[in-house]
Parts: sequence; C-alpha cells; structure tokens
Amino acid sequence: MTLTRADRKLLRGLRRPVAPAAFSLVTEWERRISGYTGVPHAVAVNSGRQGMRLILEYLGIGRGDEVVIPAYTLASLVPLIRETGAVPVPADIDPDTLNVTPDHVMSRVTPRTRAVMLLHAFGSPAPAKETAEKLAPRGIPLIEDCAHAFGARRNGLSVGGFGYARFFSFEPNKPLSGLGGGMVVSHDPGLTSHIRNHMERLPLDPRTVWRKADAVRREQFLAATGLAWLPLMLLSWPATGRWIRRIYRGAQPVPSSMARFHPVQAALGLRRLDEFEASLERRRRVAARLSAALPRGVRPQAVLPGGEPSWYFFVVRLPQPAEPVRRHMLWRYGIDAAVGEEVADDCARLLGWWDCPHTASAYACCMALPLWEGMSDHAVERVTRALERSMSCT
Ligand SMILES: Cc1ncc(COP(=O)(O)O)c(C=O)c1O
Repeated sequence: MTLTRADRKLLRGLRRPVAPAAFSLVTEWERRISGYTGVPHAVAVNSGRQGMRLILEYLGIGRGDEVVIPAYTLASLVPLIRETGAVPVPADIDPDTLNVTPDHVMSRVTPRTRAVMLLHAFGSPAPAKETAEKLAPRGIPLIEDCAHAFGARRNGLSVGGFGYARFFSFEPNKPLSGLGGGMVVSHDPGLTSHIRNHMERLPLDPRTVWRKADAVRREQFLAATGLAWLPLMLLSWPATGRWIRRIYRGAQPVPSSMARFHPVQAALGLRRLDEFEASLERRRRVAARLSAALPRGVRPQAVLPGGEPSWYFFVVRLPQPAEPVRRHMLWRYGIDAAVGEEVADDCARLLGWWDCPHTASAYACCMALPLWEGMSDHAVERVTRALERSMSCT
C-alpha cells in the first residue's frame, strides 16, 4: 500500500472528534462490501482476527470443542482459537494448490468438531463449496478465512459465499486496504447484529490507525531510499533472521478487541474499492507473465478449475529448499523474496502434529516472488532469471 496526498488529507480526520454522521461512511463501506461479495449481511470489525474471534464466540465454541484449521496458515490464529477453550486441529493441504482439500478436512472431523475453518491461501480459491457440502449433513459450520482473498472468484462468484460466515482483512499489505480493519460477511443476520452490538460498545482509538500509517510511511521511505537492504539482509541470515522476525511480529499491531473500526478507515477503503477491479486486472496480467517466465522445475501455486485468484502473493514451489535460494537472490541480485513463515506457518508442527507432510514440504520449499501492479517485463525477467541462477548456485 502506498499513501497518496488524498489519503494523507483523509488521515488528518483522525485528529478531529468524530461526528455521529461520519458513521454513515462505515455503513456505506459495509453496504459496498456486501454488494461486491454478493452476501447480504456485512459488519466492519477492527481486524480479520477480531472477526474470526467474534464468529467463534457467536457459535458458542468453547471448552471441549475442536476447530479444524488449515495446517498451512497464520500461526497467530491458533492462540485466538485456544482462548475460546477449543482445540485447533490442523488439516493438511494439497501440495499443488496449497489449500486444504475436503478429504483432508473430513479426516480430522470427530464428534467434538464444532467448526471448520478454510483459508483461500494467498488469494487462490479453496474448494469451499465441496467442503461445505461434505460438512452439511453433520451440521458443522464452515468459516471461510478470506484474509488474502478479497477480489478472488470461483466460477464467477466472489469467494466466501458457501460457508456459514467469512472474514476479510484490510491490513496495509492486503489486496484491498483500509489501513487495517476487517469485515465479517454472512447470510445469518443474527451473527452480524451480534457483532455490530459488540463493536458499537467499543471506543474509537485513532492511535492504532496512526501507527499503521506511520509503518506504511516508514516502509515507503526505506524502499525509496534503498535503505531497506539492511533489515532485509539481517532477515535473510538465520542467526539474525529469527531475531528480526520476532521484533517484526511483536511490532505488528495486535488485533485490538478494544477498539472500534474508524470512519476514516472506511473512507480510505471506499476510495480504493473504486479502483480495485482495475488494480486486480493489472496484478492478474503480471502474474500471467511471471508464470510464463518461471525456470524449469519451478511450479506456481495451482489454481482450481474456475478459480480466479486475488494474487495477494505469487507463490511458487521450488524443487529444493527455498531458504538458501532466497538468500542468494537477495545478496547477489538484491531481489527480495519471502520464504518460510513470511509466506505461511507450519501450524501442524507448531501444534505437535507430525502427519501433515504436504504442509511441511510447502513450508520448506515455497517462495513468494515479488509481484506489484506496475511490474515491467524487464523486472519480471530480472526476478525469474535471478531465481534460475540462484537455484543452480545453491
Ligand atoms: C491467513 C490469515 N488469516 C487471518 C489473518 C488476519 O487478518 P488481520 O491481520 O486483519 O487480523 C491474516 C493476516 O495476515 C492471515 O494471513
């Protein structure tokens, strides 16, 4: 995300007291997201994680219950599920699509399963319809984690329409950003009014939005001045990388359950929503060019038939461990790619389950290559050539 002059003008609104009429912007933001996704009820929350937590709370999930989650997902979802008293149970992924499969999910379902969570990993649609159909006879609700997937479609329909509920994230690096915040979308008006009642009791806290704006400005500055290389070098080296990652994750704003979604965030999101389809189309074209230029043996994340990803990340699987290749690309060619937990966590291993081999191999061998909207053919060639050479040198 980059902050434009118009964004900075909107951000000045954070300094002023909020007039009650300003909340009509939040209502408009909810209406537009509901219209875009084709699901009737939407409610703005302060983060995707807060949305997930409130869905679990509404479903009455608690001690003694199990929630099936993808083994390859964000680790910080696990403590939030545990906070409810429930046990997260990881399901392995398909080695090509990097998404869970209905069979892997069903193999984890027990009489204690109270919900299943499915992620559209990196914006590529997961088999939500097939999974929801298998769960329906058992009355188990499917929650779709659409944090990566705003704009993704399957068979012409926006992702998130098959499960009981879904949540989006609008963090600065997500396909659609409102400087943080999230949205819960559902066919159940009871769920969204429960969440709305909860949100309306919380105070506004403009400091969390300021902090995110500052982080975006800092990143813009580091990239523009070329100073980003130092933290990136430290990140790519095993001894210092662990330490930098810990600082980075610690500094990521914790999903505040104490603050309400701010109307300024709605204004920022609405501006971007107007340009969203054009921006998605540009990312789609770049992704097609990257896919066509990949070196032999490197496989892009497979897309299910009928799937149209949001291209949050462009993830490829290497025929070898990705970490040394990434380090060589950065040190030799100055190209930054993400690997390991910067892509997604091996939650099965973190939870002590050792029977998710596809997740373990994705964690070791997957890499997210740089992809940005205005990426030129020259940049595509530079990235793919650096990848090819780095693979042969490591
Ligand atoms: C897979 C996944 N789920 C959920 C979230 C939560 O989103 P938020 O940061 O808005 O809480 C993220 C955030 O990156 C994510 O990667």
